[in-house]
Amino acid sequence: MSKELDSLLKEERIFKPSSEIVENSNIKKWMAKYGIQSYEELLEKAGKNPEWFWDELAQELGWFKEYTDILKWDPPHAEWFLNGKFNITHNALDRHVNGSKKDKIAYIWEGEDGEIKKLTYHELQKEVNKFANALKELGVKKGDTVSIYLPMILELPIAMLACAKIGAVHSVVFSGFWAKAFQERINDAKSKVAITTDGFTRRGKLLPLKENVDEILKNTPSIKNLIVVKHSGIDVEMQEGRDLWWHKITKNMSEECKTEVLDSEDPLFILYTSGTTGKPKGVMHVHGGYAVGVYATLKFVFDLKEDDIWWCAADIGWVTGHSYIVYAPLLLGATSIIYEGTPDYPDPGRLWRMVENYGVTVFYTAPTTIRMFMKFGEKWPKQHDLSSLRLLGSVGEPINPEAWIWYYKHIGGEKCPIMDTWWQTETGMHLITPLPISDLKPGSAVRPFPTVKADIFDDEGKSVKEKGGHLVIKSPWPSMFRTLYRDPQRYIDAYWSTFENIYLSGDVGRIDEDGYFWIQGRSDDVLKVAGHRISTAEVESALVSYKGVAEAAVVGKPDEIKGEEIAAFVVLKEGNTPSEDFKNKLKYHVRTEIGPIATPKYLNFVEDLPKTRSGKIMRRVIKAKVKGEDVGDITTLANPEAVDGLDRAL
Ligand code: WT7
Repeated sequence: MSKELDSLLKEERIFKPSSEIVENSNIKKWMAKYGIQSYEELLEKAGKNPEWFWDELAQELGWFKEYTDILKWDPPHAEWFLNGKFNITHNALDRHVNGSKKDKIAYIWEGEDGEIKKLTYHELQKEVNKFANALKELGVKKGDTVSIYLPMILELPIAMLACAKIGAVHSVVFSGFWAKAFQERINDAKSKVAITTDGFTRRGKLLPLKENVDEILKNTPSIKNLIVVKHSGIDVEMQEGRDLWWHKITKNMSEECKTEVLDSEDPLFILYTSGTTGKPKGVMHVHGGYAVGVYATLKFVFDLKEDDIWWCAADIGWVTGHSYIVYAPLLLGATSIIYEGTPDYPDPGRLWRMVENYGVTVFYTAPTTIRMFMKFGEKWPKQHDLSSLRLLGSVGEPINPEAWIWYYKHIGGEKCPIMDTWWQTETGMHLITPLPISDLKPGSAVRPFPTVKADIFDDEGKSVKEKGGHLVIKSPWPSMFRTLYRDPQRYIDAYWSTFENIYLSGDVGRIDEDGYFWIQGRSDDVLKVAGHRISTAEVESALVSYKGVAEAAVVGKPDEIKGEEIAAFVVLKEGNTPSEDFKNKLKYHVRTEIGPIATPKYLNFVEDLPKTRSGKIMRRVIKAKVKGEDVGDITTLANPEAVDGLDRAL
């Protein structure tokens, strides 16, 4: 592992943010309040006294009742802002509506077909209140879970904020997953209410959603009601007694709804993410600490100011959207863009046209998107005036220096610093990231956010410099996940046991001589396909659930645009013959079990998979073959001939 890392191309270029950006930045102004002179001094002061740092920021939000303690760290369990009474929706909406931002635009929504909707803070609050009242009428109470399966339409943030308002816990499932994933997550969360839509548009094509949900609701005994948003106009059958139209149940509802007074540590949401087993993990976040963490990072990393137009071009179904489309921008009272469709539809100018039309000032996307646009060529962004842009961001996977430079030059006009933010579903907020005052090195996520104690450990748990190793976090942060839903033991085993009471991120990386972090990717069996997290075990279990499949092994194959593509090796049961038709059916099966993003790009039939004597599949060997690398030591293999089989298949 470390050999590969050590040989990583050393990136020498340094990019300094302009003095205009530095001097006007939120972080610089904040530092001045405390007489802090430099980035170095900030990191040092905050590192020595994290409770001071977070207390100051928490005070910028509204508390129904002040917390009595800032942090209780009983490893590996943290509680933040103890005994404080709080509600994130109160802070995201009520506070602004009662203050000066009542009529400020909260969201500008653009449909794939070009339709535009705008909601002010007051209008958004009214929609949230009506829907919260409708939920209450259906019997949804504090602590209940609500499962949501919606594309990028305004009803998605409205539903999330409504749940939070009444103390219900939302569980959003990415609408690009197949409905089977929704079924699994409803059953894990035992939701009584689910929310979906008739359908949505992708590349101009209507895609049904409700129809697929009908199928899976046969297997979700906890569901009493399905709320359906009328969006695409696709005909749907409404099941009497179970299905309710969103517009009907909210029509006569009051626009007032009391915000539930919650404890800082009350759960806000569950978001399922892939781990190293086939069963997704229900990452759980809470109201208080999560709010403070996402608020502070958006304020300092992306430097949002009163007149900024913020566009985080992620899907709300992932944590990036939860934190930086829904909660953080609203906590800051910002104006954000939400775009329903595909970035290159109807042509590769779509995003840049939108940046120009709305005067977007800060833009946040994933390396895979940047690489896709690199391929389309700079002629597309060139057709638009992108001069409104001030800062850029990257997230989801390592950004290669070439893509960084392209983004910097052709989107940012060589004047916008790029915030390469490293974080995870579990961390809730950016943990390793530049600030607008940091010098940048293309491909590096720079340094830990103030107070965060990140490090690189070798296999023995020793801190190493300028050498590859495991990325760990050595102290708690406010928006850290509190547990895995209904699986507290897995929380401990998966994250806090390899190195006792140290958070294991699952990533590998290196710290250079300037203390800059270079994060290389996952060290475990988790893939990153176009920035989406997929476990090899999930895809393997989908493959072996298909008739005729005996065994399967899945690895990531490096891909120029998507970072990784899924490569599957499949052994068939006796009596089954490999064929193109079988291959296609099998791919389609995975697609319907998990979703289009999990469909193996490469599927190879083999006689046998390389295994150890104890029968464990040696993925390391398969990985090396797929990458065209040396397989290394294979003396522990029980069936070396399987390696030749891989050669023949590739
Ligand atoms: C994994 C977390 C964080 C929101 C979106 C993904 C990878 C994320 C970076 C970055 C290198 C990155 C890591 C991490 N990752 N950001 N800036 N540089 N790698 O959330 O689905 O929970 O995935 O994404 O591998 O562990 P997620």
